[in-house]
Amino acid sequence: MGAIQNTQIVLASRPVAEIDPDTAFRLQKVGLSDELGADEILVKVLYISLDPAMRGWMRDIRSYVPPVQINEVMRSADVAQVIKSNNKNFKVGDLLTGTLGWQSYAKFKPTKDTVKINVFPGVSPSTHLGMLGLTGLTAYFGLHEVGEIATRASANHTVVVSGAAGATGLVAAQICKHVYGCRVIGIAGSQDKCEYLTKEIGLDAALNYKSKTFFKDLCAVTPKYIDTFFDNTGGDILDACLRRIAFKGRIIVCGAISTYNDANPKGPAYYSALITQRARMEGFIVFDYAKKYGQAIQDMSQWIKEGKLQSKETITEGIENAPTALVRLFKGDNTGKMLIRVAEADPVAKL
Ligand SMILES: NC(=O)c1ccc[n+]([C@@H]2O[C@H](COP(=O)([O-])OP(=O)(O)OC[C@H]3O[C@@H](n4cnc5c(N)ncnc54)[C@H](OP(=O)(O)O)[C@@H]3O)[C@@H](O)[C@H]2O)c1
Repeated sequence: MGAIQNTQIVLASRPVAEIDPDTAFRLQKVGLSDELGADEILVKVLYISLDPAMRGWMRDIRSYVPPVQINEVMRSADVAQVIKSNNKNFKVGDLLTGTLGWQSYAKFKPTKDTVKINVFPGVSPSTHLGMLGLTGLTAYFGLHEVGEIATRASANHTVVVSGAAGATGLVAAQICKHVYGCRVIGIAGSQDKCEYLTKEIGLDAALNYKSKTFFKDLCAVTPKYIDTFFDNTGGDILDACLRRIAFKGRIIVCGAISTYNDANPKGPAYYSALITQRARMEGFIVFDYAKKYGQAIQDMSQWIKEGKLQSKETITEGIENAPTALVRLFKGDNTGKMLIRVAEADPVAKL
């Protein structure tokens, strides 16, 4: 029997407003026996996904998942590699995704949340946390199930995506532009990100929401108003887009990152536009569509192979940097998916 040193980061306190990474989290090193019980596997974590939703999980409030408890390992989706197995469905070397948290190793009995991944050539395992993971699925289901984009899309259909240079927004914008041929406008927080969105991703326009002329610029690029708004940010950007919503327009409420650190968030002032324009605004959680993940991943993989979607990641090295990287997510330091690289995959993993 042997023991591994497992680095874990636990929730130490619940921030009220912005996260102070030094007080909100605590790093601990604990021994983990490599002896396996029936059906258990031991995995080495390779990548950790950082998500704005984590801010909500740190609050003791009613949500779609229970809060992370104080002294509990911070929850996250991870990509990991099996290094020891007592389970006939998982062999040493297999790669998988699961909710394993901020730790360098995990020992557990696989559940339906533990999904074996087959990485196709040219695609990094980390893509299974981004474009081929919950991030991509969020964009896919928000657009198809709430936005009904497959039947509403046309070359004249104007889509606006907020958080467009972020993980989810970048997938949503590319699906609308390169799969459905819509007119797509991205909103992001810097000139560099806007240039990336137009020059590299090929969007029709991109606007910096920090610009003093943002609303004027939005009016200029939406002369026929906004047919679909895929919203990742809420707040003032949502208000601006409500003012530009088209008749029978659709607002897909994916996220509201601008409000997550706010102890007293305020609602949208211009929601009466939903009445005057007979528009619809609807929220969703990606988990609602778990039964349809297979088809979605097939479609997304096909679109990647056809060059319609490109993956973009911002990777920070080292599990100890997860708390500060989470804070940086709220400052817009990422383009595409924000990830922590914990370890490299072994060609054939052995303990
Ligand atoms: N409904 C679901 O099931 C579901 C699932 C996953 C994610 N989400 C939501 O989707 C949204 C995007 O998540 P993600 O994982 O893809 O993160 P992300 O977009 O990669 O990262 C967050 C981005 O938000 C922007 N941002 C930060 N503070 C902002 C503010 N005050 N106002 C406007 N923009 C701000 C930053 O970009 P800039 O530089 O552009 O400011 C940052 O890069 C989040 O709201 C998240 O909660 C929902």
